Amino acid sequence: MSVLITNIGELVTNQPEPDARAGREGSGSGRDGAGPFAAVTGAALVIDEGRVAWTGPAPRAPAADQAVDAGGRAVLPGFVDSHAHLVFAGERGAEFAARMAGQPYRAGGIRSTVAATRDADDDALRANLRGLAAEMLTQGTTTFECKSGYGLTVRDEERSVALAAEVTPEVTYLGAHVVPPEFEADPDGYVDLVCGTMLEACAPHARWVDVFCERGAFGRDEAQMVLVAGLAAGLDARVHANQLGPGPGVQLAVQIGAASADHCTYLDGADVDALVGSGTVATLLPGVEFSTRQPYPDARRLLDAGATVALATDCNPGSCFTSSMPFCIALAVREMHLTTQEAVWAATAGGARALRRTDVGHLGVGARADLVMLEAPSHSYLAYRPGVPLVAGFWLNGQGVVGGQKVVGGEMMVGG
Ligand code: NIG
Ligand code: FE
Repeated sequence: MSVLITNIGELVTNQPEPDARAGREGSGSGRDGAGPFAAVTGAALVIDEGRVAWTGPAPRAPAADQAVDAGGRAVLPGFVDSHAHLVFAGERGAEFAARMAGQPYRAGGIRSTVAATRDADDDALRANLRGLAAEMLTQGTTTFECKSGYGLTVRDEERSVALAAEVTPEVTYLGAHVVPPEFEADPDGYVDLVCGTMLEACAPHARWVDVFCERGAFGRDEAQMVLVAGLAAGLDARVHANQLGPGPGVQLAVQIGAASADHCTYLDGADVDALVGSGTVATLLPGVEFSTRQPYPDARRLLDAGATVALATDCNPGSCFTSSMPFCIALAVREMHLTTQEAVWAATAGGARALRRTDVGHLGVGARADLVMLEAPSHSYLAYRPGVPLVAGFWLNGQGVVGGQKVVGGEMMVGG
């Protein structure tokens, strides 16, 4: 059942404009992943078998089984949120309120979520996780990564990654989040556990290994041990780096070939140089700086130097409890001086690069049909109208929900 979306106000493709004269409409380079930010007006798009089958000027659109009139609204690739911690129980609203009253963010707060998570049964964790995943989707996020890291025992980390794998293929093993209290006197013993029995239990459910490389969490050598063990177990690496202060995380991430160095709040020139030209994306999480009152990362310096930048939410109960990519786009534009185009690219194509995915983050022919339709004519409204729910509809793997109505086959069905 093919679907033609027509009357699109602005189509963000992140693909080179199709060369109509050469008759290559919509051929783009979709199968190779995203290109630079690109948006076209007067375009149409065809979805077939869960994939983008055609894009090009609306008058040339081929016939399809079903037509959807976008009414001049903008259509974008679904957001790709490459950093989130969604498997947890409990909440830390009082910690947030204390920060707003002047207390600093402390990584030790993680331990209170660890205690609540260990106490929760699978159904409670599953319900919270699924609720947050649904919240993301209604805000336009069609691909998301999800970390463990609030269990910190073999059993609790294993069930965390197993639960995450129920909702996303982008599962990250973060046994090295902090040293749990029972290992306070033996942090090396905990690193051994993370690199040994715990990794063995978690690797079958995960695609990624991550480590919180920070003063108060894991130092360079420990972080390297965790990443090397994860790589040997067949996982790919990503790193929580330079969040609370300068440190070795970013350069370790680049040296080890990690897909992404996340946070990058405190960078020096050598960190920026290391990222530029590397295969490591700098993933910025401005919701964290908003929610902890830390300074924002110097995104302009990274972009102007040529680094690849992604935006993600870091949705978690401590440092940043937002699931909203539109909010992060607005922060990136207003507070980190990204252009609206750079911010939307970072939240789509940038996130895809940070997850080493070529099938999402763009709307080239062959891409997954993961689309967001905005109640607005242009992507810029995501920052121009901050805090306003602008997602009018979305398609996930070709299945559409527009205006709260499922678009299934040729019929519009009521229901979310
Ligand atoms: O990305 N930095 C480490 N982990 C999370 C915070 C987790 C928490 O405070 O619960 C982060 O900010
Ligand atoms: Fe995080």
